Amino acid sequence: MTDNIYNPDFVKGLFNRMSSSYERMNYITSFGFSIRWRTQFLHPFQKSSDKIEIIDLLTGMGETWEATKHRLPNARLTALDFSAGMLRYAEKKNQEKFNRQVTILQQDILQNQLPEKHFDIVTCAFGLKTFDSEQLKVLATETKRILKPGGQFSFVEVSEPDNLILKLLYGFYLGKVIPILGKLLLGNPREYRMLWKYTNQFRNAKQAAEIFKSAGLDVTYKSYFYGCATGFSGRRVAE
Ligand SMILES: C[S@@+](CC[C@H](N)C(=O)[O-])C[C@H]1O[C@@H](n2cnc3c(N)ncnc32)[C@H](O)[C@@H]1O
Repeated sequence: MTDNIYNPDFVKGLFNRMSSSYERMNYITSFGFSIRWRTQFLHPFQKSSDKIEIIDLLTGMGETWEATKHRLPNARLTALDFSAGMLRYAEKKNQEKFNRQVTILQQDILQNQLPEKHFDIVTCAFGLKTFDSEQLKVLATETKRILKPGGQFSFVEVSEPDNLILKLLYGFYLGKVIPILGKLLLGNPREYRMLWKYTNQFRNAKQAAEIFKSAGLDVTYKSYFYGCATGFSGRRVAE
């Protein structure tokens, strides 16, 4: 096994193993806040009934689809992830709730075959933390490449709050309570301890926002609930 927690095969293995419990655990992890953040991070996009092209990167089991369809009901939604385990649940959701209208792609975003200048909107929830800075540079260049000029994007990630008391409480909860819950409820504490390791290293989306700026994108940094989640949104400047 590799020591590099950012190695794509390691990350893929982690999510494959967590896929049977991820949705339940995700809800418990953030006291349901993740659902709220998944709605809030779409606020930069104006509500519209146009048939625009959207891609949800690192889609997991399609946790953002409902909020996306609510805001942009006629959008054509493409969803990308590289974990077969997570996508199995995404496929099920697509069949049962989305009339198979979501195009699901199993690809690594860092080596993707997506067309350039194709999407009006790129979204990505809770996927930043498993990238190191070099991979974030590729993510930024790829986001720019696949967006139409003038197209918009939004990213959000669980983060370490600035407030000391909140930081200690959140750290204790994510680092200690969650792995115990993971063991008691789901039998896999190691995987959930890993998620905390990523969040701990990631801290917040400031560095990622800077990297996206350096790639030539227009970027606005965002903080949600006292910094318990952070992210950024913006657009590819029209040429
Ligand atoms: C924490 S989950 C987030 C899932 C979902 N977006 C949500 O809101 O809960 C991160 C997802 O990113 C995927 N992922 C990580 N690195 C990836 C890569 N390089 N290419 C494609 N998918 C990747 C994982 O398989 C996992 O499903």
